[in-house]
Parts: sequence; C-alpha cells; structure tokens
Amino acid sequence: MSESRVRRPRRFLVCEPRHFAVQYAINPWMHPDTPVDVDLAQGQWQALISAYRAHGHTVDTVEPAPGLPDMVFAANSAVVVEGRVLGSLFHAPQRRGESVHYDTWFKAAGYQVHRPESVCEGEGDLVWTGRYLLAGTGFRTTREAHREAQEYFGHPVISLTLVDPHFYHLDTALFVLDDEHESNIAYYPEAFSPGSREVLARLFPDAVPATRQDALAFGLNSVSDGRHVFIAPQAEALAARLSEHGYLPVPVDLSEFHKAGGGIKCCTQEIRP
Ligand code: ARG
Repeated sequence: MSESRVRRPRRFLVCEPRHFAVQYAINPWMHPDTPVDVDLAQGQWQALISAYRAHGHTVDTVEPAPGLPDMVFAANSAVVVEGRVLGSLFHAPQRRGESVHYDTWFKAAGYQVHRPESVCEGEGDLVWTGRYLLAGTGFRTTREAHREAQEYFGHPVISLTLVDPHFYHLDTALFVLDDEHESNIAYYPEAFSPGSREVLARLFPDAVPATRQDALAFGLNSVSDGRHVFIAPQAEALAARLSEHGYLPVPVDLSEFHKAGGGIKCCTQEIRP
C-alpha cells in the first residue's frame, strides 16, 4: 500500500516557445544542425500547461521575445522564495538578454528583483527544499552566487558540485519531491562529486535514487506538487519507483526541448509567495 501524499497548489511562471530553436551549443545536448519541430514543441508545451491547470495549479506567462530561443526555459531566470526574487546573470552571452524580460514581468507583478553580481542561473541551479537551498556549481552558477543567494534569502545554501556535463544544471540531476513535511528528493548520485554525494546521502537518507538512464531521459527534470510528479514518460524506471513511494507520476513528453538540454522543470519556474 502506498502512502497518501498531499498536493499543495503552486503558482508557476512559464514562457511560450514561440521563438524556440537550437541555434547555438552551450551544453552537450545542443546540436544546431538538428532541426526542431516548432509545431510539435508548441503542442508539447501546451500539454504541460494543460496538465498543470488540470491539477489545480496557477500558470502565469512571460511574453516571449524574438532572438532568444532558450527563453522558454523559465526556471533559469530567477529563484523566488518567500516572495523574494533573485534574478539571473547567465553564463552564456546568448542568453543574457532574457533577464530583462523576466525582471520586467516581476516588477509589473509587484516584486522587487535582486540582481546577482556573479553568474547565477535561477532555479536551474538553486533548488528550494522547504527549509534551505541546494545549489549546484561546476558548469554555470558560481560559488560566489551561492554566497549571494544565502545573504539575500537568509536561508542556508548548500553548495553541491556537478561533474558530468550532461547534467550541467542541478535541476537536471535532482528534484524536490516534497518541500513541506519531511522534505525529500530524487537524484542521480553520479552527477555529483564524491563529497557532494556524501552530503546528499547524509541530508536525504530516504531519497529516491535514479539511474543514468532516468537522468538522460530528463526524469530528474521533473516538477512535484507533493503528490503528482510531472515527469518525462521516457524515465520509466524512476516513475515506477516514485509510484512505489506513493507519488502519482503524470507523464508529459517534452522531447523537442530535450534537443536544447531542457525538460519539464526547465520550462517551469515556481513563484513562492
Ligand atoms: N539550452 C539551455 C541552456 O543550456 C537549456 C536550459 C535548461 N534549463 C534548465 N533549467 N536546466 O542554458
């Protein structure tokens, strides 16, 4: 018998993939010669939004800007905890122009935005567990940005080192299953340095482990509301494990976005009031 998990309604910020394309390569998934099926991408993205709404979540949208093909990956543009917005400073010059659009959205919505001084890619690398932030470094967000995040939010920030270029953002190797009661995560240990693996094992003795196959299928780039887990259908083994742990997997296929190195979580930023 699986335990009964409790869903908490979320507010998500997303950006329609109107200008989505793979035009440059800033991670090992991106091959500018591979065409993207724009209509398929639009349909897959709409299905994600419908799934969120069908499960009672609020979805807000930022207007997409031409010339910013990765702007659909809303998670990278900020991290919001207790109504405090830490904006982004992208590593790749090709993505730097995204920040102003998201900052403008937040300001219009009544939030102040704190701009980081060091490379910081929002929820791509800064993951809220409910009591502290887990923070990835190694490829994008810097340790200096982790320090800035701790100072700004006033919550502990635990730095973790990523070692596999396929899992260049923390949210490609780990996600939070439950950020309310007993916080728990699912993750792929081999994406982390030995010391960071040990830290995760100490903090989350009951974590749900994922295989390399699950991780390569973007199974760890999932969004959980505490009960439902919006997850790539290709991550079959992980979905089965999550079911055993009492979660309800909701498969959403974003295969076109995998070509840019992104999945469900990358397309989703959570606004925590
Ligand atoms: N092409 C984008 C990049 O490399 C993908 C971002 C994926 N987002 C994420 N949260 N992992 O920056």
